[in-house]
Amino acid sequence: MGGVTESPRCARVTRRNLRNIRAGDGVPPHMTTIGIIGAGHIGSQVARKAVELGYDVVVSNSRGPETLAGLMAELGTRARAATPAEAAAAGDFVVVTVPLRSYQDIPVEPLAGKIVIDTNNYYWERDGRIPELDKGEATTSGLLQKHLPTSKVAKGFNHIMAKEIGTDGTPAGSANRRALATASDYPEAAELVAKLYDEFGFDTVNIGPLDESWRVERDRPAYVIRQNAAELKDNLAKATRTI
Ligand SMILES: NC(=O)c1ccc[n+]([C@@H]2O[C@H](COP(=O)([O-])OP(=O)(O)OC[C@H]3O[C@@H](n4cnc5c(N)ncnc54)[C@H](OP(=O)(O)O)[C@@H]3O)[C@@H](O)[C@H]2O)c1
Repeated sequence: MGGVTESPRCARVTRRNLRNIRAGDGVPPHMTTIGIIGAGHIGSQVARKAVELGYDVVVSNSRGPETLAGLMAELGTRARAATPAEAAAAGDFVVVTVPLRSYQDIPVEPLAGKIVIDTNNYYWERDGRIPELDKGEATTSGLLQKHLPTSKVAKGFNHIMAKEIGTDGTPAGSANRRALATASDYPEAAELVAKLYDEFGFDTVNIGPLDESWRVERDRPAYVIRQNAAELKDNLAKATRTI
């Protein structure tokens, strides 16, 4: 890996054109079941908060539904354990929250046409080396979008610690409300993430397309720190492409 360089795109991404999304715009009201693939730190916290908000959740992991009995007992009747393919099929939209090294295991066909929220980050120590990421030629969510060509992938919940998902949210309009970033090649997918963030208690900053989503990946200024929307926009604009 070389040093830190600035992508030519950086010049075009300024604090001004990182947009705040209005939550709810264009999001169909019938999206009430969330499929969740991955039931670890993030998957379980997303499931807890979603159930609290009145969503139904269908949760899966790699070892099989029977291993999720404890989490299901905690979540109650709005939750069901399933296989990844069943969770993908059941969700009106789906959260993928597995270690990045497993992204190619995510079922393609049952996710066709659906919005997929991707929480993944690249930890080469855990995931093994992925040359396109090391060279700065791809993004983590871009890899998932490539794997799921018929789905609409949006980045979400990747730069907040799992335990803070249920504790850091505040009502819309609260002073200094925490903000989270999203990015997608599909505006309706970014809008859905904004709606969900708002329900979870967070403002949204939209980075733009997935090929700009490296701005909120690991080791960038916006990564896993508490920041409001203005601070998040500043941090995204400050990010440099590491190659
Ligand atoms: N932890 C955080 O605070 C945090 C914050 C932001 C983003 N992230 C990112 O979000 C992703 C998930 O992180 P995590 O901390 O929640 O991970 P985790 O606690 O290790 O949980 C991973 C989950 O994914 C499941 N899984 C693994 N391979 C799978 C496969 N092939 N098919 C279906 N399910 C599979 C695991 O199931 P089994 O247990 O049955 O194998 C487990 O339920 C990672 O990319 C991470 O970097 C994490």
